[in-house]
Amino acid sequence: MAEVRRVGIGGTGSFLPDTRLTNEDLSRIVDTSDEWIVERTGIRERRKAAPETAASDLGLEAAKRALDAANFDPEDLDLILVATLSPDHIFPSTACLIQNKLGAKKAGALDISAACSGFIYALSTGWQFVATGQYDNVLVIGSEVLTKFTDYQDRTTCILFGDGAGAVLLQANAERGEILSCNLRGDGSGGDVMTVPAGGSRNPASIETVTQRMHYMTMRGKEVYKFAVSKMAELVRASMKKHDIGLANLGVVVPHQVNRRIIESAVKRLHIPLEKVYINIDRYGNTSAASIPIALDEAVRDNYLHPGQHAILVAFGAGLTWGSVTLRW
Ligand code: UT7
Repeated sequence: MAEVRRVGIGGTGSFLPDTRLTNEDLSRIVDTSDEWIVERTGIRERRKAAPETAASDLGLEAAKRALDAANFDPEDLDLILVATLSPDHIFPSTACLIQNKLGAKKAGALDISAACSGFIYALSTGWQFVATGQYDNVLVIGSEVLTKFTDYQDRTTCILFGDGAGAVLLQANAERGEILSCNLRGDGSGGDVMTVPAGGSRNPASIETVTQRMHYMTMRGKEVYKFAVSKMAELVRASMKKHDIGLANLGVVVPHQVNRRIIESAVKRLHIPLEKVYINIDRYGNTSAASIPIALDEAVRDNYLHPGQHAILVAFGAGLTWGSVTLRW
């Protein structure tokens, strides 16, 4: 392998809309209850963006916070990567919209589509550009306004999703958060497990697709559940083995915030104490590609990580896709 540069995290940031959608609120819309949702998912509330707010608006705020944390001028950015499954438009990309709003005049901009694994894919992509010396400063954002693709007539999905954004600045030779490895996987044979059936070139928007509510997310929850538990355990185990990580040098596992029971089942298989796993799903629900950068930002601010300790970021989602990134703080 050609010589690669050390790449670390210069700063993290996150942004959540103010409006809270509680389980109580949802129980007034569909046949559900706070008790059922908390017991089956661990979610108590999620955030909901205003009608006029899109993914680029949330992503922009998270980006500003990550750049502020790094004391970094957006004009010096080389590349902006945005992971999202709820982009402002089919095109232009959400990354281009953020690039303009940030005033990142010399940055390239690109969206990455890997659903809930999107941030892991984007972080891994950004890492390659910096490690090879092509670029020095890459901004990686995960931003979602999932509530606009959520069917509030379907109690099996509408309880799960929320809005938010998180961002990370990748820099050559940054002091903290050195990326050690990534592990990206996919299995397109499971493409129909979670999907938005219409609105793309397969089923373009029509009166029929709208009437049949085909522009909302659909999923087979039980299948996702089993897939997520096994992939989370598999990826974390592989990372710990590869980097010789034990409980002493494991700072935190930051999983995609999919369902508290999924996370707990995987953690049980791994024999890792739950205190080493960052969980905020109770407050934000599942924010897809935004969940890991939001959780990582909070984990950093809550002092979950100390120098020399490792962080394992792990995600799984539609595609099917799954993946992990391992860091040393
Ligand atoms: O990022 C990836 C996105 N995907 C996910 O996050 C989904 C992962 N999967 C899950 O989180 C879980 O499978 C769910 C939370 C979606 C469902 O939990 P479950 O324990 O797998 O429940 P279930 O699907 O087996 O349903 C059990 C019962 C059913 O009733 P019957 O058939 O037993 O009478 C459902 O109709 O619960 C019913 N049910 C509900 N009841 C009250 C389903 N949704 C609700 C609800 N409130 N919101």
